[in-house]
Amino acid sequence: MNRPVSDIEKLREELRIHEYQYYILDDPLISDAEYDQLMLELRKLEETHPELMTPDSPTQRVGGQALERFGSIVHRAPLLSLDNAFSYKDLLDFDQRLKKELDEVSYVAELKIDGVSIALVYENGLLVNAATRGDGFVGEDVTANIKTIKTIPLKLKNSVPRLEVRGEIYMPKKEFLRINTEKEEKGEKTFANPRNAAAGSLRQLNPRITAERSLASFIYDILYIEGREVLSQEEALRTLRDFGFSVNPQARICQDIDEVFDFTGELAVGRHDLAYEIDGVVVKLNPYAGRSLMGQTIRSPRWAIAYKFPAEEKETRLLEVEVNVGRTGIIAPTAILEPVFIAGTTVGRASMHNFDLVAEKDIRIGDRVLIHRAGDIIPEIIKSLAEQRSGEEKIITPPNECPACGSGVVRLDGEVAYRCENINCPARLKESLIFFASRGAMDIEGMGPAIVEQLVNRELVNKIADLYNLELEQVISLDRMGSKSAQNLLQAIEDSKKRPLHRLITALGIRHIGAKSARILTQQITDIDGFFEVSEEELAKIPEIGPIMADSIVKFFTEPLNQETIALLKQKGVNTREEKLAERELPLAGKTFVLTGTLQVMTRSEAGEVIQELGGKVSGSVSKKTDYVVAGESPGSKYDKAVELGVCILDETQFLNKLKNSSAAVTKLDNKEIK
Ligand code: IVH
Repeated sequence: MNRPVSDIEKLREELRIHEYQYYILDDPLISDAEYDQLMLELRKLEETHPELMTPDSPTQRVGGQALERFGSIVHRAPLLSLDNAFSYKDLLDFDQRLKKELDEVSYVAELKIDGVSIALVYENGLLVNAATRGDGFVGEDVTANIKTIKTIPLKLKNSVPRLEVRGEIYMPKKEFLRINTEKEEKGEKTFANPRNAAAGSLRQLNPRITAERSLASFIYDILYIEGREVLSQEEALRTLRDFGFSVNPQARICQDIDEVFDFTGELAVGRHDLAYEIDGVVVKLNPYAGRSLMGQTIRSPRWAIAYKFPAEEKETRLLEVEVNVGRTGIIAPTAILEPVFIAGTTVGRASMHNFDLVAEKDIRIGDRVLIHRAGDIIPEIIKSLAEQRSGEEKIITPPNECPACGSGVVRLDGEVAYRCENINCPARLKESLIFFASRGAMDIEGMGPAIVEQLVNRELVNKIADLYNLELEQVISLDRMGSKSAQNLLQAIEDSKKRPLHRLITALGIRHIGAKSARILTQQITDIDGFFEVSEEELAKIPEIGPIMADSIVKFFTEPLNQETIALLKQKGVNTREEKLAERELPLAGKTFVLTGTLQVMTRSEAGEVIQELGGKVSGSVSKKTDYVVAGESPGSKYDKAVELGVCILDETQFLNKLKNSSAAVTKLDNKEIK
């Protein structure tokens, strides 16, 4: 049947209905072949009449051009996370907290889908962008990939001027197993769990790869809606369903916390039968009125909580112990286990953390052991079942030599870890390079583990600084490397020279110094040479830098081999300075605050510190020069004075929002490349 071109929109609408029936209602009205036929017709019409193409056409799901990198999207309001409850007692406490503040408390209990959080924006009924949660303030623009997910409407069934929703992208267990089997056959690294698989598939720069993986979605929250009023979570879910989103059918309205307990009890048993993984239940206050009364902390709302299922335990056998060297040179034992299916995945290995712990738990090779997955993810041995021993079991001892380079193994004062001290140890070098290039560190796009592996194996890079000696033909010679990607990689390496000092400090992988402490340090010590001179005492005076960190920093910078590495990096032109955020650039620069009354989320002095960090001033008295008076509970006379002088008064929520927006602005400034 050949339809006239005037039918093009009708045809699209038909296809949308069939997609909805098939993917969301699981109730197809036509056969797959008939569906394919309709799609083919639409495609033909669009090919012959490209001027009639629309972005919301069902043909637009296949995925277009691959991206160079993801853009960023600033969330309208920060995407919060949830507080966790690990027991019924925690849930009861949550219930009590709400009852103390509110007259009416009823809940919607939802499955906590173990996937990737996503925020979608629709304008006049059309999907305009989709972003990952990111750091809560700024996410990655994954619109092209999201469009390939069949349960995400490109066009809503009911149009409103603007709608922003939040939900979860997940990978059904069956698809996870299919992809992992395929990967195994190809000799590729498998995904550890469906959540990683979903995240990995969503963060593909090439949307065609995302399109090949059957991802699905559940939408559970309206972040913003224009043109319609929504008064409860129950109504939100109904509205989302009406719009054509896939909404989890298991959500349950609970009149009280006992009904929530019933629900979690049923799921504790039934959850493994679901087609997708869940890691708990999200309990949300149903009426929105109560939500605004309860408010939120910087991190999470007070009106919701995530109840996490207790970890499952299984028995298996410890077959062998593998000794691995990590990025910081730590030599750690890994248990090789008789494979066992636990909490949704087959587990064959488990970290044993350190040799002290092994000795303490008296775990021996050949033992029957009890394992669980910490946080439902990381496999761990809880204990050995010593009563089942045959006498053949072998005691585990730390090695005398590094398994990767044969150098001696040392144990530092006050540490449980054994370490390889050879910084050029091949095992350490790869890990160091991967970390050095990673996003939070020098952010060298394209230099992932596979490239590092080859660079080191082919001896193109024998020490970190060698990265900056690489030449085009060397990079092109790597497996699966085209000339364009080689150029891109070299450019990315070149670009990394311009990163601010805090990234370099992070990238060096100094023990106990992560990205946040690196930032704090480099606000005080703005040139790397300063790190060679600074004493432990001076370091420990810097807020948030404790004695352990100070000790680690000093040890790191007194090590001659590290000094050599830094000298080499400098020689190659790597930036070793931090530009202090100019005072005037800070978001609260020039603003004076007066704090009065009791604040809930932080103390007044904590609030004062944050204001100052963001460039603002705190004053003890209100005058015409005051920009804001922050009024907590039972404010004093300063409040009246502010009213009298017409100074802007912020309540705590407004104040916190201001801080959040400002700190997001600082993060952006901080990440700004230095020129
Ligand atoms: S509500 C402000 N509902 O769990 C509250 N979250 O630990 C927003 N999640 O980042 C979240 N299923 O990615 C909510 N039914 C559900 C959920 C859910 C999974 C995830 C979400 C969030 C994380 C919080």
